[in-house]
Amino acid sequence: MQENYELIVIGSGPGGYVAAIKAAKLGKRTAIIEKRDIGGTCLNRGCIPTKTLIHTTHYLQKAKVMEQAGISFTDIKLDYDKLGQRKDEVVSKIRVGIEGLLKANGVTIYQGSAKIVDNNRICVKTEDGETEIKTENILIATGSIPAMPNIEGLGLNNVVTSDDLLTGEIKQFKKLLIIGGGVIGLEFASIYNDMGCEVEIIEAMDRILPNMDQEISRSIAMGFRRKGITIHTKAKVDKIIEGGSFGLICEYTEKDTRKTVDAQGVLVSVGRRPNIEGLFDENIRPKMDGYHIKVDDDFRTSIPTIYAIGDVIPGRQLAHLASAQGIVAVERIYDKSPSIDLDVIPSCIYIDPEVASVGLDEKEAINLGYQVKVGKYPMLGNSKTLLSMGERGFIKLVCDETDGRLLGAELLCERATDIIGELAMAISKKFTYKDIATIIRPHPTYEEGITEAAQDIEKEAIHMMPKNVLLK
Ligand code: NAI
Repeated sequence: MQENYELIVIGSGPGGYVAAIKAAKLGKRTAIIEKRDIGGTCLNRGCIPTKTLIHTTHYLQKAKVMEQAGISFTDIKLDYDKLGQRKDEVVSKIRVGIEGLLKANGVTIYQGSAKIVDNNRICVKTEDGETEIKTENILIATGSIPAMPNIEGLGLNNVVTSDDLLTGEIKQFKKLLIIGGGVIGLEFASIYNDMGCEVEIIEAMDRILPNMDQEISRSIAMGFRRKGITIHTKAKVDKIIEGGSFGLICEYTEKDTRKTVDAQGVLVSVGRRPNIEGLFDENIRPKMDGYHIKVDDDFRTSIPTIYAIGDVIPGRQLAHLASAQGIVAVERIYDKSPSIDLDVIPSCIYIDPEVASVGLDEKEAINLGYQVKVGKYPMLGNSKTLLSMGERGFIKLVCDETDGRLLGAELLCERATDIIGELAMAISKKFTYKDIATIIRPHPTYEEGITEAAQDIEKEAIHMMPKNVLLK
């Protein structure tokens, strides 16, 4: 095994493994160090297992809807063991694929815990002892771990994080209380609601998804309530104790009133914090930005040979962003121009219907001083949504009034996560709403809603009733 590298990547999540493969493709002697499973949080305890569960549990809801189309399913059973096994199989198949890619590209894999000793040396601790390896540059991609708020009772049995729910067997609850109405909270609310579990969400801010477009968050809240999910806003959990009808009692304050709720499980999903404990030897410490590692535009930390990407640096915590940063960081280390536009970042929530957004929402654009024009198409008018018995939703485009350039898009519709890419491209390439409307989109597809939303900006949407017209 070589012990002198040009680049060592610490952490093999979507940021780290992609960066390592990119460096190897540039002909650099590259190693990657991972203390747990290859693939990081996204593959092992995040995106992939969550979406595998969502994909399956949504069929339980769809089965009910199919009765309208003449197909009745009776005695539908959910085999939790099989559900868990399939989740693990999907994860392990992808993991084998990534390991294969790393090896085939000549990346050396160290299975162990890395400690940065100085600018060019890393100590790797494995079961067999410690090895020191040298490198010209280091890329930190160690990701994040669930943040735990200061609430009494978090150590009780059945008080869990997303890590616990996604590792091993599927945990079954009659009633799940979710602390935090962010992305993780909502995706698990959707999964457990589909599985027939009673779900309640406690969110500290005045609405779920407080950082998203208000209309999206309001529409999701309405949809969730229709499905029987209870949402408390401006609510904060004070403590969790044992007792009650399901085993746990959660004491919380909602709009200044103290209340309690019983639950069998409590999911804590109030954000994630950088995973950097034990990463640096005591003599070496890069400059920090709060809990995050501070980097410049090239992802270089205050130590010139050390770079950082993904959840350990300030900014959005998204797998695809970490991968993109990994590629650009490697390009910058080797003096190449960035091949990816890091300013346009799509984000997705895998609930039903799906949510996807990119660029600025209307309020953000106005706050930045833009005069905006907004086009919006309600998806219940979209043929594909109707024929596939999709739920209500919309596609909204926010454009600059002066030149028509697309500034942002919000989608709440079936397959939103698969069609947001075209709008990310439009923003990156500075397309206007007129450019977007020039494209022929196949019929019937969900994407036709994009054409309609773009046409709506000039009130020219074909499949929308003109406003203020009374039908005879
Ligand atoms: P988040 O930051 O999205 O949401 C946390 C929520 O908890 C916020 O709404 C916040 O107001 C609330 N909160 C904080 N303290 C609270 C308290 N004491 N009581 C009640 N509510 C409280 O964090 P989340 O959902 O844990 O996700 C972590 C990160 O992972 C996010 O950046 C998210 O974007 C990312 N992620 C992305 C996914 C995707 O792209 N589909 C899937 C899962 C996670």
